[in-house]
Amino acid sequence: MELLMLNKVSYQYEKTEKPVLKDITCAFETGRLYCVTGASGAGKSTLLSLIAGLDIPTSGEILYDGQDIAAVNRDDWRSKKIGVIFQSYNLLQNATATENVLLSMNIAGNSNSNSLSEAYELLSQVGINKEKANRKILKLSGGEQQRVAIARAIAGGSPILAADEPTGNLDGNNEKAIMEIFQQLAHDKKKCVIVVTHSQEATTYADEVIMMQNGCLKEM
Ligand SMILES: Nc1ncnc2c1ncn2[C@@H]1O[C@H](COP(=O)(O)OP(=O)(O)OP(=O)(O)O)[C@@H](O)[C@H]1O
Ligand SMILES: [Mg+2]
Repeated sequence: MELLMLNKVSYQYEKTEKPVLKDITCAFETGRLYCVTGASGAGKSTLLSLIAGLDIPTSGEILYDGQDIAAVNRDDWRSKKIGVIFQSYNLLQNATATENVLLSMNIAGNSNSNSLSEAYELLSQVGINKEKANRKILKLSGGEQQRVAIARAIAGGSPILAADEPTGNLDGNNEKAIMEIFQQLAHDKKKCVIVVTHSQEATTYADEVIMMQNGCLKEM
């Protein structure tokens, strides 16, 4: 059964003339990697922000395990059910990689005495060793920061992981490494992973590609 179901979801920004998402119906399952792609302005980030619970649909519904997420406490949704990776990473620059991950573990109510070793373990899963884990974010490369952002997003133990252009600023090798991490999280850790991307190369890692055009899904 699908974990997340979008049922005729439309969205219109306030004070605008027309909707940017129109009647989107699609399903996301556990253990699969989805890439959402399409031209600039197609509505990809808007769709992601609805899934992330940052906004609610103007009409239609988003169901998680059959329940409308609009009825779920939004803080609970964002801290326990979905890990979001923004294009700008949103990491605390002056804190270390480990501190960034720990912060998110605490928010999700997972804090305990093993937190620190868990944080190192999560970071090592995405290829950040202990030495880099103890560095401040501003002393890490773009690719390394992206890895930390992924570690932080999975630290809450959420079943869904959503990322907006996670490889947008990375070179080919880093893009490959990051997409392989997403693939592993979907296939081995059974996460439902949703990645918005412009990159043709990135979509080759997906189990399913969702193409958007002018706020609608385009049949492939
Ligand atoms: N806060 C906002 N207020 C009004 N319109 C907005 C707002 N944010 C986005 N839009 C409009 O909604 C449409 C979809 O934007 P969105 O950011 O979802 O596109 P996108 O597919 O993510 O594009 P890109 O690939 O460039 O990131 C665009 O026409 C955009 O101008
Ligand atoms: Mg976008």
